Amino acid sequence: MQIERLLQQQGFGTRKYCRSLVRNERFSIGGKVIDDPFQEVEPEGLRFNVDGREWPCFTKAVILFNKPAGYECSRKPRHHPGIYTLLPVQFVARDMQSVGRLDEDTTGLLIITDDGQLIHALSSPKRKVEKRYRVGVRHPLDQSQVAALCSGVLLNDDPEPVAALATEIVDPHTLMLTIAEGRYHQVKRMLAAVGNRVETLCRVAVGGLDLPADLPEGGWRWLTAADLEQLWRKST
Ligand code: URA
Repeated sequence: MQIERLLQQQGFGTRKYCRSLVRNERFSIGGKVIDDPFQEVEPEGLRFNVDGREWPCFTKAVILFNKPAGYECSRKPRHHPGIYTLLPVQFVARDMQSVGRLDEDTTGLLIITDDGQLIHALSSPKRKVEKRYRVGVRHPLDQSQVAALCSGVLLNDDPEPVAALATEIVDPHTLMLTIAEGRYHQVKRMLAAVGNRVETLCRVAVGGLDLPADLPEGGWRWLTAADLEQLWRKST
């Protein structure tokens, strides 16, 4: 593939812009500057450099993002800045989107990708991909609340109860809660249904993939093939 086309595909701008980027000696591979935008390269497994930053070449890009509080997941945020302001502009140009959304005040693991099939599969109710949350609550937790969460609570938009897949009381104000669905404000509404209130909410795992302890809020990293396999470990 010609370099200018590759750069455009990877989200670096229009073909014309990518051509001038290469001609201005801002592109290199393995430390060697290439200024011919029409030079052919093999995209598979390629790592290239633009303005000193290294980029792996992906047909479909998937990242793991540690969402901070105070940001909306929407592409057109209304009340707070959007998460995409925290990510390289190339990701927006590639039309990468989050798999589902976390509330503005929720933190934690978010998968962001331009792989439509992956978004569809991870969001499909049939696949029942587990989501694990660390929930800080206002009132001390008791066993009756946890028992009700496990046996199922009614949310006002659905006649069918939703039940937690797993719960663990960490301390009187902290609960680990695993659910299979991704309904609107689901965790907050489940806790409200048992008479409590969510004060803080962090998603710590999706499927079998944990939020890396060393990834700071607002940080991201590429998902490896091994991560993707891990992701599907806790789903049906
Ligand atoms: N449940 C919620 O209530 N909010 C989230 O952001 C995610 C799950």
